[in-house]
Amino acid sequence: MPLVTTEEMFKKAMEGHYAIGAFNINNMEFIQAITDAAEECKSPVILQCSSSAIKYARMGYLINMVNAAVAETTVPIALHLDHGPDFETCKACVDAGFTSVMFDGSKYDYEENVRLTKEVVEYAHAHGVVVEAELGKLAGVEDDVNVADDDARYTDPDQAYDFVQRTGVDSLAIAIGTSHGAYKFKGEPRLRFDILEKVKEKLPNTPIVLHGASTVIQEYVKMCNENGGDIPGAQGCPDEMLHEACLRGVSKVNVDTDLRLAMTGVVRKSFAENPSVFDPRKYLGEAREEIKKAVVHKINDVFCSNGKA
Ligand code: G3H
Ligand code: 13P
Ligand code: ZN
Repeated sequence: MPLVTTEEMFKKAMEGHYAIGAFNINNMEFIQAITDAAEECKSPVILQCSSSAIKYARMGYLINMVNAAVAETTVPIALHLDHGPDFETCKACVDAGFTSVMFDGSKYDYEENVRLTKEVVEYAHAHGVVVEAELGKLAGVEDDVNVADDDARYTDPDQAYDFVQRTGVDSLAIAIGTSHGAYKFKGEPRLRFDILEKVKEKLPNTPIVLHGASTVIQEYVKMCNENGGDIPGAQGCPDEMLHEACLRGVSKVNVDTDLRLAMTGVVRKSFAENPSVFDPRKYLGEAREEIKKAVVHKINDVFCSNGKA
C-alpha cells in the first residue's frame, strides 16, 4: 500500500494505549529490516531519517528505496523527517513525498519556536503532510547541570498546551528524561512520568512522542566491545520503562541507536570470526537479520503495536 500519514495510526494507538515505533533509516538494509519486521508483526511503522541521513543516502535513493519497500508491504508505513532543522529542509521533504515532518525548534526560545513551527505547519498542512514539533530539551550526556537547570529542561505541561493551540502541530515531542545516543542516564534510569501525565491531561488528543528512546541493548554493546569496539558503560532506557511510557500515553517511540548497535555489533563479530570473508552480502545480510530481530522485539514486547495494522 502507498505511504500514509501518521494520523490514523496515532488515533488508533491513543485509543488502544500502545505506541508506534519510529525507526531511523540510512540505507537499504535498515529499510528492508524494519519493513520486513513490521510486515511480519502486522504492525504500522514509521520510517524516519534525519537531514544528515538524507545527505548521506541522497534524497532520490531514499525515496525510491522506501517506495520499493512500501510496494511489497501490506501494513501502513509513514515516511518522516526526523529533527528537521529549518523550514527549507522540511519543505524539501514535503515536496519529495514524505508524509510527515518534524520541525525541531527546541534550540530556539519559546516564541521563536512557535513562530517557526507555525510556518512549517502551514506549508505541510497545505500539502497533506503532518507535523511533529518539540518542546523542552533532551538531556545531553556531557551536560553538567544542577537541579534547578535540570527541572528547566523538562517540558512544561502548560506551555505544551499553549504551543499546540498556537502552532496547530499534529504531534509533540516532550522531554521527560531521555536523551539521544548510547549514554542516557548519569545514574539510575529515571523518566518523569508525572510530567507525561500532566501533558496528557492537558492534551488528551495530541499524540506524544518520545525521542532518545533506545534501550541500548546490552547484547549488542557486548558484541561490539568483545570484537574491537570501545563503548564502555553504554546504558539506555529499560524496556519496562518504555512499555510503561506507552501505556501512559506516548504514541511514538524513536529508535536509532539500538539499530546502529545491532549493525555494528554483528559486522564487528562477523569480521572477527571470518577474517577471510570479503563479501559484503555476508556481513550486511547478517546485520539486516539482527536489525529485523530487534525491531520485532520492540514492536511485539515493548510498544505492543503488533496485529494493529
Ligand atoms: O535523533 C537523532 C537521530 O539519532 C539521527 O542522528 O543526525 O546522526 O542521523 P543523525
Ligand atoms: P536514540 O539515540 O535513543 O535511538 O534516539 C533516536 C531518536 O530520538 C531519533 O530522533
Ligand atoms: Zn530524536
